[in-house]
Amino acid sequence: MKTAIVTGGARGIGGATAARLRRDGYEVAVFDRLPENEAAERGSLYHQCDIGKREDVERGFAAVLERWGRVDALVNNAASGSRAMLVDQPVSDVERCWGVVLWGTWHCTQLAAREMVRVGEGGNIVSISSVMSEYTSPGSAVYSGAKAAINAMTRTWASELVSHRIRVNAIEPGWIDTPGERITFGDARIEAAGSDLPLGRMGAPEDIANAVGYLVSGQAAYVTGTILRVDGGFTLIR
Ligand SMILES: NC(=O)c1ccc[n+]([C@@H]2O[C@H](COP(=O)([O-])OP(=O)(O)OC[C@H]3O[C@@H](n4cnc5c(N)ncnc54)[C@H](O)[C@@H]3O)[C@@H](O)[C@H]2O)c1
Repeated sequence: MKTAIVTGGARGIGGATAARLRRDGYEVAVFDRLPENEAAERGSLYHQCDIGKREDVERGFAAVLERWGRVDALVNNAASGSRAMLVDQPVSDVERCWGVVLWGTWHCTQLAAREMVRVGEGGNIVSISSVMSEYTSPGSAVYSGAKAAINAMTRTWASELVSHRIRVNAIEPGWIDTPGERITFGDARIEAAGSDLPLGRMGAPEDIANAVGYLVSGQAAYVTGTILRVDGGFTLIR
């Protein structure tokens, strides 16, 4: 039996990833702040929590270990966006974004890595970064900075954990049609956006889930410390 934790796995990229990993034979725990009855994907264990809160994450790991006794894969997917100019940005907005992206990813990765080291059979950690980690746009500093930190932590953790056969990688999605993007931009903007993108469509959550499926599989057995861009050419033509 293989087990995976997907943060933010109730919908969007995380939901497609949880579904993909279940199809690949994983028992999947979804950690998400949405109430379970609002989740489109629930996995086989649903833990409602805020991954920025250490106690919440510890309770989730305890539930996973009680049920299955091991963690084979962690997908750090949950994030909270931020878009504001430096001179206007409220401190609370920065704390919210970094609380989820930085602290949430750090808490989950530390607890998962400890379990993988304890069991001694290797494992996989995949974090969902963003093309915004490498490209600037006014108002994106807090989000972009957090995603750039995810890339830096990914490479560093990969070097720390390689001797335990724990592979650590990240994915940079381009623009993906998810519930979160539709809430931010509205249906009309999202439906019109695809034709302006290089491959003629927005990404689907499954495009990213496929990359996660690859990275945690034996086909990627020699891949660690990699930042894999899956953006349909978004960053080629800008
Ligand atoms: N959609 C895109 O265009 C795009 C592009 C690049 C990167 N990404 C990244 O992909 C990931 C998923 O994005 P999405 O578009 O699917 O988002 P989404 O808003 O559709 O889904 C995010 C999920 O995370 C959950 N979540 C948010 N904060 C949480 C917290 N503190 N604790 C637990 N759960 C929490 C939400 O409840 C939701 O279910 C994010 O890391 C995002 O930064 C998305």
